[in-house]
Amino acid sequence: MKKLGLMTAVCMGIGFSACDDGRLYEHHVAIPEEGRVVKLTGQLTGIDDWANGYNVVVAGFTDDSEYAVISKAVSANEEGEAEIVLSGINDEVQSVEFCVVNRLRKRILTFQKADLQTTDTIRMEVNQMDVGMYATIQEQLFNTTCISCHGASTFAAKGLYLTEEKSYGAMVNVPSVIRPDSMLVNPGDATTNVLYHVLANDLDATLSRPHHEMISTQATNWPNIVRDWINKK
Ligand code: HEC
Repeated sequence: MKKLGLMTAVCMGIGFSACDDGRLYEHHVAIPEEGRVVKLTGQLTGIDDWANGYNVVVAGFTDDSEYAVISKAVSANEEGEAEIVLSGINDEVQSVEFCVVNRLRKRILTFQKADLQTTDTIRMEVNQMDVGMYATIQEQLFNTTCISCHGASTFAAKGLYLTEEKSYGAMVNVPSVIRPDSMLVNPGDATTNVLYHVLANDLDATLSRPHHEMISTQATNWPNIVRDWINKK
């Protein structure tokens, strides 16, 4: 009996709230569907350090295009705290990325991808990250592709260390070994430096190791990114 009484009370409760819900629901469906929302939070430095024409953004892509369907610039306060909300992500969007795009919103490189499994607000948490232009070249190019021969072990080809902490000092205003008349990195002028030409594979002299082949399977954007970094200095 006691149990039945409780059940009745619960049912009545449901009955009332269902009545309330009915009105609310009708109101709710009148609001147009605005798509998914991605919220990126992070502790970021170097956002404004990119050369002209590059933008650090949160952007949505379809699987078959490198051009963002939707994007929003990432910014941070003085403490480096960033909080970006990208809304209106429609069904066409298959991936949302924290990335760098160019003026045409073409993806240049990716820092992190969001998991788009859920339909609620999608949260992207970025731990402390230096997304500056040089820091990214170091992290995504030198660390992944170059340091195996240039300094990660006891060996550094042509004495060139491309490891973190050392790479900048080893190249900027330092003469090249293979082309002693040129600098490895000549700030402000990518045409007269060896780093860019090694990557672009347009040195007069052929290298015993064709470097462009090392990066061709990865982002083909690297020679241009390095060129624009040098020209920006
Ligand atoms: C498989 C080993 C290997 C990898 C990986 C490698 N290099 Fe090299 N690198 C060499 C060798 C060997 C030379 C000297 C080439 C020669 O004498 O023809 C060289 C020379 C260079 C030079 C010229 C140095 C100078 O003082 O003139 C630069 C710049 C350079 N590499 C940059 C890079 C960059 C950037 C990467 C990553 C994209 C890279 N290398 C990856 C082996 C490597």
